[in-house]
Parts: sequence; C-alpha cells; structure tokens
Amino acid sequence: MWCVAMVFMLFWEPGLQQFPRPCATRQALLAKECCPPWDGDGSACGASSGRGFCRDVVVPDAPDGTQYPFRGVDDRERWPLVFYNRTCQCMGNFMGFSCADCKFGYYGVNCLERRESLRRNVFHLTRTERMQLVSYLNLAKQTPSSDYVVATGTYREMENGSNPTFANVSVYDIFVWMHYYVSRDTLLGGAGNVWVDVDFAHWAPGFLPWHRVYLLQWEREIRKITGDDSFSIPFWDWRDARGCDVCTDQLMGEQNPRDPTLLSPGSVFSSWRSLCSQAQDYNARGVLCDARAEGPLRRNPGNHDHSRVPRLPTSAEVAFTLSLANYDTGAMDRTANMSFRNTMEGFGDPQTGLGSSTRMGMHAALHIFMNGSMSSVQGSANDPIFLLHHSFVDSLYEEWLRRHRPNPSQYPTSNAPIGHNGEYHMVPFLPLHTNREYFITSKELGYEYSRLLATSKYQLLSDSLRPYMEDLHAMWPWLLLASLCGAVAALGVPAAAVYIKRRVPAWPRLRKRLFLSPTFRETQPLLKRDKENKLRGYTAAM
Ligand SMILES: *[C@@H]1O[C@H](CO)[C@@H](O)[C@H](O)[C@H]1NC(C)=O
Ligand SMILES: *[C@@H]1O[C@H](CO)[C@@H](O)[C@H](O)[C@H]1NC(C)=O
Ligand SMILES: *[C@@H]1O[C@H](CO)[C@@H](O)[C@H](O)[C@H]1NC(C)=O
Ligand SMILES: *[C@@H]1O[C@H](CO)[C@@H](O)[C@H](O)[C@H]1NC(C)=O
Ligand SMILES: *[C@@H]1O[C@H](CO)[C@@H](O)[C@H](O)[C@H]1NC(C)=O
Repeated sequence: MWCVAMVFMLFWEPGLQQFPRPCATRQALLAKECCPPWDGDGSACGASSGRGFCRDVVVPDAPDGTQYPFRGVDDRERWPLVFYNRTCQCMGNFMGFSCADCKFGYYGVNCLERRESLRRNVFHLTRTERMQLVSYLNLAKQTPSSDYVVATGTYREMENGSNPTFANVSVYDIFVWMHYYVSRDTLLGGAGNVWVDVDFAHWAPGFLPWHRVYLLQWEREIRKITGDDSFSIPFWDWRDARGCDVCTDQLMGEQNPRDPTLLSPGSVFSSWRSLCSQAQDYNARGVLCDARAEGPLRRNPGNHDHSRVPRLPTSAEVAFTLSLANYDTGAMDRTANMSFRNTMEGFGDPQTGLGSSTRMGMHAALHIFMNGSMSSVQGSANDPIFLLHHSFVDSLYEEWLRRHRPNPSQYPTSNAPIGHNGEYHMVPFLPLHTNREYFITSKELGYEYSRLLATSKYQLLSDSLRPYMEDLHAMWPWLLLASLCGAVAALGVPAAAVYIKRRVPAWPRLRKRLFLSPTFRETQPLLKRDKENKLRGYTAAM
C-alpha cells in the first residue's frame, strides 16, 4: 500500500528544477547569483512573502591553519564565492536555497509547527520498519534528484561559468557526490599534480558539525521523495560488536557466498552501482569525478588490515573518548592530543588520547573494518552502512555536547585547517550553513536519539522488545479467535450438558453407556470419543 503511495508521491513531487538546479545555468554562474524564485509566489527567495532575501554572501576573514599552503587554486576556498556571491538569506524559520523549506525541526506551510523526530537503534525497528528503511534508501537511489545537480568540472573547466558542466544523479547519489567533493584532493593542474593533505569535512573540528547537517539534509530529502515526514535515520550501536551485525539481507546486505568482497544477491544493495570511488584514478588524470557508475558496492567486513584496526571500538574506549573535555586541541588536525574530535574521528588513540595514532579507532575503525567502498573517505557514502554508522557517531557527539555543555564560542573561530573555522560556510552546501551553527544540541535541530532519552530500564526493555511485539501483533487476531473459541467451548459444553440432561429423558442411561463404560474409563482417550460428539467443532477450529 505505502509502495503505491510512494510511487504516487514521486509523480506528485513539484517539478522544481549539489548545486541547486536553477543555479547551475550559464546565466546564474555569470551573474554569480543563486537566488531562485520560491514556487509559492514566484519572487526570488520568496521575498514578496517575507520568506527571505537575495543577499551578498559574506565570508569571514579569520585565518586558516597552515596545513594548506595555497590560495586561489581550489573552488572550495572561501565557499561559495568562486561560484556565487549572492544567495538567499532566509528569515524566521525558513530555509533552503529558495527559502522553500523550513529550518530543521519545523514543519507546515509557514514553518511554525515544531516537532521532534527520534532516531532509533536499527535493531529496535520492527520487521516492517526495516523493510521500509531498505525500500526508502533504494527509492532514493533510483529517483533522479529534481532539486540538485552535481558539478563534473572545475570552475576553470567551466570557463568561469560560461560553459557549465553538471550531471543529473539520483537523490541518494547527490549525497555520495557531496561526500566525495568535500573530501577530494586539490587539483593543482595537470595529471598527477594534486595536494592530498586537505579535507573540508574531515581531520579537523568541522568533522562532527559537517556530518550532522549532512545527515539532516539527507533525512529531509528522503522525507520529500517518500512523503513520510516521520522517517529518521536509525543508528547502529557498534560498541563491542564482534562483526558486522547489520550485514543481513534484511538490513544492509549479507556477504556474497561466491565473492566475499560483494553483497549477497538476496540484498537489493547488491544491484547498486557506486560513483566517485576512484580517487587515485581522478588524481592521476587531474580531473573531477564525472558521476558515472563505476561498479558494484564492495564490502568484506573483518577482512581488513588488523594491525591498523585490531577490533571494533569497545564500550570502554567510547567512555574514555566521551570523557575528553576539550572539543579540539593544538593544530586541530590529525595530530591533536586529548581532543574529543580527533579521538572520536579515529586519529587519537581511544585509550590514551594521543594524536597521530598508528591504529585507527572509533569512527575510522568502522570504515577500515568494512574493507571495501566504506574504507576510502571519498567513496564511503556509496555504502548505506555509512548512514547507520554516522547516525551513531552523531549520537556520541550529542552525548558529548550534553555532558560537557560547551558554549558555542568554544568552537574554534580561526586557525583551524581550511574549511573548519566556526564561520566557514560548509562545502558544498547550498543553502549555506556554518560549522558553528551545528555545534549545538540536536534538541534545537528538532531531533533526539532513543539511546539518550532519560529512560528507565523498563522503557529501554520495552523498546528492544518492539520487534517481537510486532510479531505478536500480527498474530493477535488468531490468538483472539482461538481464545474466543476456547471460551465458547468452555461455556458451551457445560451448558449443552445441562440442556441434554434436562431435555433428553434417556440421558442417565446414555451417559452411563458413553462415558462410564469400563472400556472408556480405563483405556479410551477422551479426544477419541470427541470425534463422535460436538467437541469436534472446537478441535477443528484450532
Ligand atoms: C559578484 O560577482 C559579480 C559577477 O562577477 C560582480 O559583478 C559583482 O561585483 C560581485 N559582487 C560582489 C559583492 O563582490
Ligand atoms: C577565468 O578567470 C581567471 C581569473 O579571473 C582568468 O585568468 C581566466 O582567463 C578566465 N578564463 C576564462 C576562460 O574566461
Ligand atoms: C538533466 O535532466 C533534466 C530534466 O530531466 C534535463 O532537462 C537535462 O537535459 C538533463 N541534463 C543532463 C546533463 O543530462
Ligand atoms: C582489505 O584488506 C586487505 C588486507 O589487509 C587490504 O590489502 C586491502 O587494501 C583492503 N581493501 C580495502 C578496500 O580496504
Ligand atoms: C602529543 O603528545 C605526544 C606525547 O606526549 C608529543 O610527543 C606530541 O608532540 C604531542 N603532539 C602535539 C601536536 O602536541
């Protein structure tokens, strides 16, 4: 039924049309303006309705860290100024590249309705909810994005905007591309001429806020195509896991018995094609990913280099990481000591907190453990495990925020590696978001984690029992029928006996013959006799 509804939603989706499609034109690029009209009133940024205004983009002057020694060579520097210097600035609770959407956590035409969504443990989802999760992800993978396109060339290759090169990809693949684009290496011109020590979303303080807004945006796009506003990305709590618990055909796919690096044909994900996963090839050719299909998802959990990742993170390591009071420290990169961010990300040792660890912990351990698409930063979002993994990482970030209650000013303003200062606009988001805006509790962004609710043991227990309750739920009409039949029989048999006793004059003799005969009393099982009388109906109904 909901499948039909989903197909309906697909066609019902307004024909708007990670670059906002209306801004991926020669005209918009030459004018450097990304202020599309809001469908509701046709005015740029919905200005006539007071939703927002087209404004000059202000980028901060705060100095970046010294890790990246260039200026003016990468389109992601001072985002989004290479492409646009005017974008929509939305008012009140409005958001989106044309102010058509609401801020996270707000709903309704005027974005005045506040609601909180709940991200739950993936193992507490019912069978129906698991099927729904897989179908929603697959729908996103098959549905062309109506709102966004992806850049397949640099600004220079686009001849400074006069020759735009963008590609259509699916809703899911917009996010794969974004993850590639934000973490790709800097092309310095010509084959093999790249700078690899740069990443606008990893290895530095923006790691947690960036992935937070990324998941929020992803969740929103899935809600749009399915029409299901209650959809939330579940999490995989991998603490102390011995292996890939979510690698079942009901969830993220089992291992293929014929080729352990592939997924089982019983999983829909075995038919998915990856994109933007060949970083070395692009670097060798000095080009960007062209967003074409590159082959199946690869995953071989546990068959990784054990000297880099001896085991999946333990509860004790998570507890140690959460105890680190400083969000980031020192150079705020992979060398940072006693930094919550660096240890959480996996480059700080989860037992000592020392940076530049030769062993990968926490977040990074999971990526390497999967030994496939997940194991390269740029291509990792191809594997849907990415979502369950990062939902859990974000829940740990949230746990840390609630425990240490940092003031937003504790997020670094300057000298973080490029892309990571507080006021830097996160690459490649349009609409614009800054890192500091997502250094706040998820409550303010309209979502919560089931594992962080101040729950009693009873509630946790009942949550984990939900999948079983669903099975019981599916059986209840039968249980009810059976107990009704039982009740009818229980009441009916004595009533019938009384009736017979009163109305059948020959009953005492009959009774003697039927039940009290020596053969019956000693040797005949009761039910055998039932075959002849009305109790038969009762047994047949069972
Ligand atoms: C924005 O870019 C356009 C086109 O290059 C230019 O004419 C304009 O002066 C720029 N505006 C600002 C505020 O830099
Ligand atoms: C693009 O702009 C750069 C810097 O402003 C300039 O050097 C270059 O010649 C321009 N390229 C084209 C194709 O207009
Ligand atoms: C992308 O899709 C749109 C709408 O279907 C179409 O008009 C456009 O030509 C496509 N662009 C490319 C580069 O394929
Ligand atoms: C998988 O693990 C093997 C063994 O350590 C390693 O050689 C290989 O590079 C890994 N592959 C990926 C994609 O991580
Ligand atoms: C981190 O601590 C180690 C061991 O004390 C020290 O050698 C290293 O210089 C420190 N790194 C930074 C970036 O402070």
